Amino acid sequence: MSVRAAVLVSGGGTNLQALIDAQAAGAIPSGEIALVVSNRAGAYALERAKRAGIPGITVLKGECGSQAAFEERLEALLAEYRIDVIVLAGFLTILSAEFTARHPGRILNIHPSLIPSFCGEGFYGLRVHEAALARGVKVTGATVHFVNEIPDGGEIIAQKAVDILPGDTPEILQRRVMEQAEWILLPRALETVCASIQEGTV
Ligand code: GAR
Repeated sequence: MSVRAAVLVSGGGTNLQALIDAQAAGAIPSGEIALVVSNRAGAYALERAKRAGIPGITVLKGECGSQAAFEERLEALLAEYRIDVIVLAGFLTILSAEFTARHPGRILNIHPSLIPSFCGEGFYGLRVHEAALARGVKVTGATVHFVNEIPDGGEIIAQKAVDILPGDTPEILQRRVMEQAEWILLPRALETVCASIQEGTV
């Protein structure tokens, strides 16, 4: 039986799309995207889920009232959809230590830099690329890692380097990192983790 994945999103959902496309191409044989959850109303990622026929649900922290209530709602959805593994794909809310401790080795995150550079609290989206350009590094990339209680601090699953080129803006660099690293790494990492879960090795 395939491993059931929930993808948590906040925005455009290009990484979700990479997962959907990989699944359609047969590149995630051990897993199945069974649920998409957005913490932002109207996130374009929800439209991508809809088009792929995947249930998409919005859970707003503001409406839940607290982080604990928000996470309780998430847990209820994970149970309802019988989710085995969680993928954070541009999900810009930090999960509590209590939540991550309940799912050891079962939450993956994609981060748009080579961890441990340009990561941790406050480093998300374009800010990561702005910081890399400001520091003047010549190589950046993306990292897929397991999620634990330390923001961007969990075990690294896969990384891919991407060159920074003269004239890069944060937007140009973000796009190159997505194309050359994120959209390739994330589906592969999900398949690797799903296969290990199936084999019972993790
Ligand atoms: C991606 O670049 C992802 O790596 C990043 O947000 C973007 C979401 O794009 N995530 C983080 O910065 C997490 N710290 P998407 O919605 O098009 O996939």
